[in-house]
Amino acid sequence: MLIDNVNNNKTSFLLVTGGAGFIGSNFITYMLSRYNKYHIVNLDKLTYAGNLENLKELENKSNYTFVKGDICDKELVNLLFNKYEIDYVVNFAAESHVDRSILNPEIFADTNIIGTLNLLNAAKKSWEGKEGFRESCKFIQISTDEVYGSLGDTGFFTELTSLDPHSPYSASKASADLLVKSYYDTYRMPINITRCSNNYGPYQFPEKLIPLMVNNALNKKKLPVYGNGSNIRDWLYVEDHCSAIDLVLHNGRIGEVYNIGGNNERQNIQIVKTVINFINSNVDNSIDEELVTYVEDRKGHDKRYGIDASKIKKDLGWEPKTTFEEGIKKTINWYLENKEWLCNITSGGYKDYYEKMYGNGLGV
Ligand code: NAD
Ligand code: TYD
Repeated sequence: MLIDNVNNNKTSFLLVTGGAGFIGSNFITYMLSRYNKYHIVNLDKLTYAGNLENLKELENKSNYTFVKGDICDKELVNLLFNKYEIDYVVNFAAESHVDRSILNPEIFADTNIIGTLNLLNAAKKSWEGKEGFRESCKFIQISTDEVYGSLGDTGFFTELTSLDPHSPYSASKASADLLVKSYYDTYRMPINITRCSNNYGPYQFPEKLIPLMVNNALNKKKLPVYGNGSNIRDWLYVEDHCSAIDLVLHNGRIGEVYNIGGNNERQNIQIVKTVINFINSNVDNSIDEELVTYVEDRKGHDKRYGIDASKIKKDLGWEPKTTFEEGIKKTINWYLENKEWLCNITSGGYKDYYEKMYGNGLGV
């Protein structure tokens, strides 16, 4: 359904950063299928994780523009704000993988912290006048539940949980959150911060747990489980995440943080077994559980993430619609139907990284 009534009849310019990545590309597709009053400018550096194939259906749309560039590039970001008179920013651009942050933290500080600061400054410069910030502008920072640290067996992260990040990735995301918050506290810049749990769905780069297991299982490669496989994540289907961001963009109260969770806590080993069972029932019957290989645990591995998403439910009426059973089925089917996408993406820089991580032959 297309919705026409955004900002009356005026076209609004939405800068989406990192829009060629997993969640960003799902979000752009979601927004353009739902609204025709937005022009989306997608600024993406096309790192190993950015893939324009994710957006090929949109290439010729008149209300979509792709710009290859770095959020750390001040000149470019200011130019985009001037050229397109950007109204809203949704900042997905990030280095997003914990394991990579353990190997090479610097790029995480550059993109996730300095890049975010650079976007905040450009937005402030463009949106702030003598009377304060103009109407109809907002900066949304896409953050993560990992900024809260790790839970024990019970309890959930709320928006009031103290920040206690453990990995260089989560520390860089927490730093960015604090900068975004400071632009509200200090300048009254209109912002929201969203903190979601682990996403899964189409177009996720196969270094993250679910697509990595699907890819390896299809290729009869070993399935590397860190530690004893009992760590817990709360899984959120990416389309549900997109609908939450849509609501925050339009109705989120300025200055607020919103947690977004899937209500689907699972141990990693349960996820791996679900993938094996699905492939055995739907593709062939030859994936042996012996492919599961317990490997050295991740350094500083957070034990459990669990989100309390009652605030966004109460304030904005959002709830996840996809059960884990439905979501995992849709996700694995998508990878099965898009083997070429998987093959293309695993033949690039990903391979070098994979060899570095799994030089012992567990790789693709
Ligand atoms: P992703 O790694 O799939 O995509 C990141 C995108 O950002 C890529 O297209 C990449 O090219 C781009 N990018 C990286 N550095 C850039 C730079 N300097 N300038 C411009 N573009 C740059 O990540 P994702 O999984 O889609 O995550 C998107 C956001 O959501 C991130 O901010 C991440 O921290 C957050 N998040 C993700 C998850 C998850 O489960 N995937 C969970 C919580 C939060
Ligand atoms: P990941 O998808 O990297 O997301 P995050 O670390 O941001 O939560 O990992 C999800 C969980 O799966 C995490 O507990 C680490 C674990 N994991 C494995 O056991 N094996 C793997 O090969 C990967 C990539 C992750």
